[in-house]
Amino acid sequence: MLGVWLHDLQRIRGVEGDHAEIGAVESEKVLKEYEYDEETIKAVKDIILAHRCNSDLMPETIEGKILASADATSHYINDFYINIAVLGQRNTEEYKKWVLEK
Ligand SMILES: [Fe+2]
Ligand SMILES: [Fe+2]
Repeated sequence: MLGVWLHDLQRIRGVEGDHAEIGAVESEKVLKEYEYDEETIKAVKDIILAHRCNSDLMPETIEGKILASADATSHYINDFYINIAVLGQRNTEEYKKWVLEK
């Protein structure tokens, strides 16, 4: 649940940059503030870092896989994928590959 709540912290804050990498660092600060143990903090950071399922960094724990799958699926109920297609951040073939992998 900590991963669910914190994985898009940087998107919610509107901070530029890699939201997974920055979010993992910022989440560590939040979790330390609330005195979570190091094992929990590491597990949450791993979930956040891998939640986008980049080809070079995939979730390895069951919790990470559940979050990444639920997160990717949740984007089908809004205009997330259409916005990315329209903004042209990827060419058509790259876009199709990326969406299918997600
Ligand atoms: Fe995200
Ligand atoms: Fe998300």
